[in-house]
Amino acid sequence: MGAHQPFTLPRTGHVLKNRSVLAAMTNKQSHEDGTLSDEEIKWLVRRAKDGFAITTTAAANVTEHGRGWHGEMGVWGDHQLPGLKKMATQLKETGTLSLVQIFHGGMRAPQSINGVQPVSASKNTENGMDGLYTRELSHEEVLKMIQSFTEAAVRCQKAGFDGVELHGAHSYLICQFLGSVTNRREDEWGGDIMGRSKFLRDMITSVREATGSDFIISVRISPIIEKAGIFLDESLQLAEILSTMDIDMLHISCWDVFQGVAGDEDGPSLTKLFAETIPKQIPVVSTGAVWTSKDAQWLMSEGADLVGVARVAIAHPDWPMHLANSDYSPDRPPFTEQHLLDVDLSPVFVEYMKRWKNFVHGGKNV
Ligand SMILES: Cc1cc2nc3c(=O)[nH]c(=O)nc-3n(C[C@H](O)[C@H](O)[C@H](O)COP(=O)(O)O)c2cc1C
Repeated sequence: MGAHQPFTLPRTGHVLKNRSVLAAMTNKQSHEDGTLSDEEIKWLVRRAKDGFAITTTAAANVTEHGRGWHGEMGVWGDHQLPGLKKMATQLKETGTLSLVQIFHGGMRAPQSINGVQPVSASKNTENGMDGLYTRELSHEEVLKMIQSFTEAAVRCQKAGFDGVELHGAHSYLICQFLGSVTNRREDEWGGDIMGRSKFLRDMITSVREATGSDFIISVRISPIIEKAGIFLDESLQLAEILSTMDIDMLHISCWDVFQGVAGDEDGPSLTKLFAETIPKQIPVVSTGAVWTSKDAQWLMSEGADLVGVARVAIAHPDWPMHLANSDYSPDRPPFTEQHLLDVDLSPVFVEYMKRWKNFVHGGKNV
């Protein structure tokens, strides 16, 4: 089976043209009120047009005060609908399956941006938060937060997107509930992995009820973040729990799919562990450091049903078109600013990419 070949999503029967997934990428191109800019639409539609089977938006926040950074996409208000409709319509025309990645920053939504004290599963803080602490969400606020995620998903559906990806990775709010370090609650939203995943599980149930059976729900998780109290054995348990629910795929964010698991470097890859843990009817998307078509093929041989990429698709929007060629090995960073402008990044996005180590000539290189 090759990465260039089609795949049918088991639950809905949606046929994907190949195995490629454009993973969510923040690009700073949205307006301050969370509405989409034409530049952001252009950047994403280009990648969909150029062959991605699934195209995911940047992380988009579900409440006005959950913003993690400036230039972030929002799905919290109806004023954002016209832009969302425009993006969804153009994505649909390409034949891609479109997902909005929905999230809330939680302890990573700075007061300096939102004007309010950040919230989390428990009282937390972290770098970049000016030494300020979050407030623990009350039971009623947790329910309200699930409602905000649900309303955001309904808004995405109304706009014409095929589904959402619930962003449970990278230490944002869902992840803060999942982690034993960031979630020290003693009520029903805390405790063991069953309790700490209740926020996510109730969210899945609520989004499914509100959007109906055709709507795609992907869940993205980080297998290991020790600082947050996310450990592999519990993440595998979580995957098992989630696989009994009405979700369409589980997306593991590995950052480097080739890296061995710490402490068991010669053991199976993260991808293999997850693929072997959950039943085949829940496809596994795995993402991190895939660059060549051989990389993609290797990832599938480890059990990934779908191959996620981010950075390679910034510079090479038509990456999926080359997957049938087993020798495809696209140029690697650093890239020139002109090249990035030519592949439909706006100057704002190019500036942002200068902050990623060694990605742009003349950008950060340490
Ligand atoms: C510019 C940029 C922005 C990103 N923004 C997000 C995001 O909004 N949500 C998310 O889940 N991951 C985000 N990521 C992580 C990617 O989705 C991906 O998991 C990671 O870059 C590893 O894949 P890669 O090696 O193919 O780039 C971002 C990555 C990059 C390079």
